[in-house]
Amino acid sequence: MLHFFKKKKNNNLLFPSQYIDIHSHIIPGIDDGAKTVEASFELLKKMNDLGIENFVFTPHIMEGVWENSSEKIKNHFNLLQAHLATTELKELSIRYAAEYMLDHNFGALLKEKDILPIKDTYILVEMSYLNPPLNIYEILFDIQIAGYQPILAHPERYNFLHNNFSEYQKLKEAGCLFQVNLLSLTPYYGKQVQKIASELLKNNLIDFAGSDLHHEKHFTALKTVHLSKDYKQLQPILEKNALLK
Ligand SMILES: [Fe+2]
Repeated sequence: MLHFFKKKKNNNLLFPSQYIDIHSHIIPGIDDGAKTVEASFELLKKMNDLGIENFVFTPHIMEGVWENSSEKIKNHFNLLQAHLATTELKELSIRYAAEYMLDHNFGALLKEKDILPIKDTYILVEMSYLNPPLNIYEILFDIQIAGYQPILAHPERYNFLHNNFSEYQKLKEAGCLFQVNLLSLTPYYGKQVQKIASELLKNNLIDFAGSDLHHEKHFTALKTVHLSKDYKQLQPILEKNALLK
């Protein structure tokens, strides 16, 4: 009896059913991600067709660039949620958090405990692509003293770490968890980023994965992740993401 079988939307199943995508810019009109609720819907529809049913959206909070507050993120999230409730995607499990740039403003938010975690005490953080904060180890310490566990977004994308691989180990030893971007397993960000992502996976330095989806172009590249030579290595990481569900 056909109706006893759940319809599979996609044969090329990329994601375990418990996978939760912990990094994306799908909340509309708030950063360099989706611009409108319609654009958000289109992205989510495509992600859902790949088999992803759980999401934590993470708009940037970046001083002088994306000056979002917890309140603003909540309001824009509510708009999206209200829209989705009227669509076929009403069953999706969605939450919001933020991707925190480790800048001066972040220090202030941490002091006020005005932090949106991915789940429980896990928070998603990023650094500038040009150079690390001078006091990076002090910041990582402060985050943990405040009771949070930092997950560094896309460690493979920081060029200043590429020729200093032991620094990755040092960051891990300082309590930093690593989230690889799925697109880093493809040539999307360049060959060098792809190579470092591969190295980090091989050295068991990656804890979680995320799409970091901003727009359609990212989605097009995302559909090629299964072609990566590191795809097999990625599987246990995708499974581990379920811890943050
Ligand atoms: Fe991001």
